Amino acid sequence: MMIENILKPLQSRTNTTLEKFLPLENQEPRRLSNAMRYSVLAPGKRLRPVLTYLTGQVFGAPLSVSDAPAAAVELIHAYSLIHDDLPAMDDDDLRRGRPTCHKQYDEATAILAGDALQALAVEVLLKNQDVSLSDESRLNMLRVLTSASGSQGMVAGQALDLAAVGRVLTIEELENIHRHKTGDLISASVVLGYLASGQKDSTVLEHLKRYAMCIGLAFQVQDDILDIEGTTEEIGKPQGSDAELSKPTYPNILGMSKAKETALNLRNEAIAALDFLPEDTSVLAQIADFIIYRKK
Ligand code: IPE
Ligand code: IPE
Ligand code: MG
Ligand code: MG
Ligand code: MG
Repeated sequence: MMIENILKPLQSRTNTTLEKFLPLENQEPRRLSNAMRYSVLAPGKRLRPVLTYLTGQVFGAPLSVSDAPAAAVELIHAYSLIHDDLPAMDDDDLRRGRPTCHKQYDEATAILAGDALQALAVEVLLKNQDVSLSDESRLNMLRVLTSASGSQGMVAGQALDLAAVGRVLTIEELENIHRHKTGDLISASVVLGYLASGQKDSTVLEHLKRYAMCIGLAFQVQDDILDIEGTTEEIGKPQGSDAELSKPTYPNILGMSKAKETALNLRNEAIAALDFLPEDTSVLAQIADFIIYRKK
């Protein structure tokens, strides 16, 4: 199947689910509710929820069981983007083709919207929507999502990213930042999908995590590449933001052609990890291609 035909229905399923969990527009405090809706419902790619749904499907989880974990991971991602764009962090004015949350509202509202989205992600996983999800699976999902998000996960990556500004990093140091700031949440998306199937084979999990970390790292390498080669219109965020902030990136440490080679090697390594699994994982291999060939 063409990748667009795989992504589209899952993206729209994600949007419907997110809409269901978000506070309504007229819910007090309205400014906060609207800021949360504004950022979450903006046109993102929904890559993380798509990974949760697809991994779940590969291992036999019905889409309905993956709804909550898929939404939860996108809520964490949306919060991370709102905070990432703040003046104290990357200070960007455009996100998903629209003014960033703090530009559209104000800084305090953007900080609070991020805080509230993080809490909402946890709440979504705790809600007893689908009885087929056992309490044990739910707890495991919470463990996976919170550890991928916190000070040993995405937030660690963000802290290291900020501390690296203006410094000359080794490629190993940069890889460590990228693994945390982007790889950890992408890895969690895949693991959540697997947990939605009710299975917990540690060998399978190991292969899945290797696949996920490779595509997660490749995703951030491509993000760095698009900051240089993309257009503001296409990527929906300010092109050249990394250079302006002297952020260490793959292209500026390795050069553009080596950065592209790295993305391709990671894609190959991701697909090699899938080869250990007897299930039909071709759709996950297609996602690896999408990640390195995407233009936005
Ligand atoms: C942007 O993520 C932040 C990174 C981790 C590079 P995405 O490129 O997935 O952003 P959306 O969700 O599509 O807007
Ligand atoms: C952000 O990385 C990763 C997050 C955890 C949000 P970037 O700062 O490169 O993401 P963009 O380019 O602003 O989307
Ligand atoms: Mg950043
Ligand atoms: Mg940024
Ligand atoms: Mg970037």
